[in-house]
Amino acid sequence: MSDLQFDARGRLRHLLTLEGIGRPLLTSLLDRAEAFRVAPGEAPRRHTWLAGRTVANLFFEPSTRTRASFELAARRLGADVINLDIQASSAVKGESLEDTLYTLEAMNVDVFVVRHKDVGVQALMASHAAPHVHVLNAGEAHLSHPTQGLLDAFTIRRHKPDLANLSVAIVGDIKHSRVARSALRALVTLGVRDIRLAGPKTLLPKKGELKGELFTDADKAVRGADVVMMLRIQKERMQKAAVPSAAAYFKRYGLDARRLKLAKPDAIVMHPGPMNRGIEISAEVADGPRSVIREQVSNGVAVRMAVLQGFYT
Ligand code: CP
Repeated sequence: MSDLQFDARGRLRHLLTLEGIGRPLLTSLLDRAEAFRVAPGEAPRRHTWLAGRTVANLFFEPSTRTRASFELAARRLGADVINLDIQASSAVKGESLEDTLYTLEAMNVDVFVVRHKDVGVQALMASHAAPHVHVLNAGEAHLSHPTQGLLDAFTIRRHKPDLANLSVAIVGDIKHSRVARSALRALVTLGVRDIRLAGPKTLLPKKGELKGELFTDADKAVRGADVVMMLRIQKERMQKAAVPSAAAYFKRYGLDARRLKLAKPDAIVMHPGPMNRGIEISAEVADGPRSVIREQVSNGVAVRMAVLQGFYT
């Protein structure tokens, strides 16, 4: 799949995965995103990079952050945007993904932003797309969420630029998390070496499946960390009850003020959202001074602008 996303000249044509994207390209995407950041209260600048282009959001799974930020990113670059209401679309009548693609291409859609619960849907669409069309993965099953990985790396780099000497603890439902997989890929590519993956045994990947040291003791994983990234418990991807009660989970794996004190005094707290407050993170920590959770959301627009702009420069 990582081959499919580059054109014959080695330029990024689709963004399907962070696998196969090396440090120079990843760094240049993050550098370009810096120019698109908007301070709180500031009116975002309007650009014309995508003037005359049309971006279609195809979200076969729910989303608040990713969908809204792709729409804002596209509009701020001058594109027209359509948000296909999947539940009210002809997909419900059985129209195939390929026919959905061809139909929208016939209306001059240039960029498809796709979220789907199944593996391989974005690659399938990319393999059928017209030569001028771009496909962006906005969340693929448990496997990848590349722009989330980019925005997480971007946020970490802004606060902790010495990436080679960082300790990053990722805590929660690693097994079902496309966020963890893409963040890990971005961080490893950027040179982060100390990555700790913590959660109940039932929610951890198999040993060796992902980069990072595995912990079932959250205190040990968080101790001395520069970055603590909490993950959502994803009930929708679990076959059967793989976690104890919410209260028991919070006690063993949730991030509260006591557990956060184990991290470095200037550690930052991240969460991709949506949060289950009181299950994986306390409201006090989520809204506290070390939290960069809302900054992640804000950075998501800048990073997605950088990706979209890259297709047209
Ligand atoms: N982080 C993330 O993907 O959030 P949404 O599901 O709201 O898009």
